[in-house]
Amino acid sequence: MSVGDGTSLVPFLKYVCRLASAHVSHYDEQRTKGDVLGKATEVLEREHQVIQRAVAVMARIVEQLELKHSIDADILRELIRFMREFGDQCHHGKEESYLFPLLENKGVPPTGCPLAALKGEHVKGRQLTDDLAAAAVVYIANQENGRVHLIETLQGLIILYPAHIWKEEYLLFPMTGKVLSVNDDELLMQQFTVAESGLGLNAHGTYEALVDDLMRRVGECPQCSMEKLPR
Ligand SMILES: [Fe+2]
Ligand SMILES: [Fe+2]
Repeated sequence: MSVGDGTSLVPFLKYVCRLASAHVSHYDEQRTKGDVLGKATEVLEREHQVIQRAVAVMARIVEQLELKHSIDADILRELIRFMREFGDQCHHGKEESYLFPLLENKGVPPTGCPLAALKGEHVKGRQLTDDLAAAAVVYIANQENGRVHLIETLQGLIILYPAHIWKEEYLLFPMTGKVLSVNDDELLMQQFTVAESGLGLNAHGTYEALVDDLMRRVGECPQCSMEKLPR
């Protein structure tokens, strides 16, 4: 194609304009149907925010452990329960049982990036949570023996989760918005509701309250308070 002759560009520009208008009209059509496309990924993003609060609890625990301050056994047990029940069962469950298979049905390759990589990180998250549970048992029995390994397992989760969430929010979910239709989004919302009903009444609210309570409790370290007292 010659760029020196303006008239020879006209068919190409018309072609580009046609492509662009087709692209815009596809998304306008989705948005004008009550602006409902993306509700399922919004649910997952809200859950990510709750998981990120649990990661902040872990970071606070690491700070305390590095100062050799004591961590209450119940805080560790409740944190592990949160990661298993909310992080894995509730959140990863929705992604692995419904979102990922639907994307595969729509032609997204099940191998490579992003789906296989994200599934691999879910497996790693489960393994690290099991490691955390084992490290917590040792720490609760003998704080000095278990402290370093507990710090290492927490650091593994602190590194994994924010990077995993970033990949989903900035790579997977924008792609999901292009691949799924409004009807697919509605189907996911129905499946998410069914999945959550299996976790019990107001499961979401209960887990959000749990992680907020953990943040409060880990912030009330008696040894930190003692060290701040004027001597
Ligand atoms: Fe995930
Ligand atoms: Fe996620």
